[in-house]
Amino acid sequence: MIGAAGENVPADARIEAAMRRALQASAQVHGITSPNPPVGCVVLDAAGEVVGAGATAPPGGPHAEIVALRQAGDRAAGGTAVVTLEPCSHFGRTPPCTDALIAAGITTVHVALPDPNPIASGGATVLRDAGVAVTVGTLAGEVARGPLRAWLHAVRTARPHVTWKLAASLDGRSAAADGTSRWITGPDARAQVHALRATADAIVVGTGTALADDPALTARNADGTAWAHQPLRVVVGHRDLPAGSKLDAPDVLHVRSHDPDTVLAVLRERGVVDVLLEGGPRLAGAFLAAGRVDRVLAYLAPALLGAGPAALADAGVGTIGDIRRLHVDTVCRVGTDVLIDARPGAELLEKGTQ
Ligand SMILES: NC(=O)c1ccc[n+]([C@@H]2O[C@H](COP(=O)([O-])OP(=O)(O)OC[C@H]3O[C@@H](n4cnc5c(N)ncnc54)[C@H](OP(=O)(O)O)[C@@H]3O)[C@@H](O)[C@H]2O)c1
Repeated sequence: MIGAAGENVPADARIEAAMRRALQASAQVHGITSPNPPVGCVVLDAAGEVVGAGATAPPGGPHAEIVALRQAGDRAAGGTAVVTLEPCSHFGRTPPCTDALIAAGITTVHVALPDPNPIASGGATVLRDAGVAVTVGTLAGEVARGPLRAWLHAVRTARPHVTWKLAASLDGRSAAADGTSRWITGPDARAQVHALRATADAIVVGTGTALADDPALTARNADGTAWAHQPLRVVVGHRDLPAGSKLDAPDVLHVRSHDPDTVLAVLRERGVVDVLLEGGPRLAGAFLAAGRVDRVLAYLAPALLGAGPAALADAGVGTIGDIRRLHVDTVCRVGTDVLIDARPGAELLEKGTQ
């Protein structure tokens, strides 16, 4: 295959590059598509040149394939579509993407992941029946760890995906002995957390954190300006918040329950797919004990407190045999801090469902 600039590029490398570009496009809409999946799509013309790239619009808007096909126009004919998720073949709020791909004259489709949603799956079969060549599995692992992760989890489990984010000193404390906790981690870690908030559908804290810190729970830039997408702010617990506190606002959801499954069911009702659990220690312990933490993002500051509250309270571990071990996906430096991105092993999730 000859590249746009005339260079020789193997076909597979070009498809993988297009899939990475589709993944990047999907990252741009991460947080604004729920309950729909954040999908990315790239269209190559018959010569293998990128002629369209797009991602899922907010609910009711076009899917990624349609955005990319519109950009490509007539150049899609005889071309290839590279999509992070199997194109839908059903009439939802928008017509099937398989119809649009076939009508545009696309002859080959590369998909990263099959659609696990029984209502929308079957797109690959529809395309093949229409004579389109379809491959499934391009960069599947990379795509599954990307912006689609929470949505895939929600479809498989019928529960929102929960990421517990914590910030702690190296000795695992989330505040000093006198309760002061700002700032344990550095500005780079804090900026990353704000970016993370902007991709979440909901941020959840317990009343303990709301009462102790009076947090705004908004996604802000370093200069204090707000990100365009703001997640639903959620407080969990029976206590009232004082009038005039930052979370005493009409758009804040107050769930008066101690049951993580009740909280998640309420959030699911609201179309929430991706939850960022920001603590504090007791609420996080309850979610872990219930097997309802799907990812742990631990920002560890190279600092020691020696006394003060731990980042995690009772998580149902009474004896060392019940220790909650995690599988580490990545470890990286964020400014002066260290970020561990981990997830519970399958046995912990099973324990929580018993
Ligand atoms: N460094 C960090 O990453 C981080 C993050 C967040 C908070 N913090 C710190 O944590 C401290 C607050 O700790 P905390 O443990 O009180 O906060 P919390 O976990 O946010 O709130 C505890 C409250 O959550 C409610 N709750 C809901 N479900 C529960 C369950 N299953 N079990 C127990 N409680 C449940 C209860 O409220 P009701 O009593 O109203 O029913 C409980 O009093 C603050 O000093 C804050 O700065 C640190």
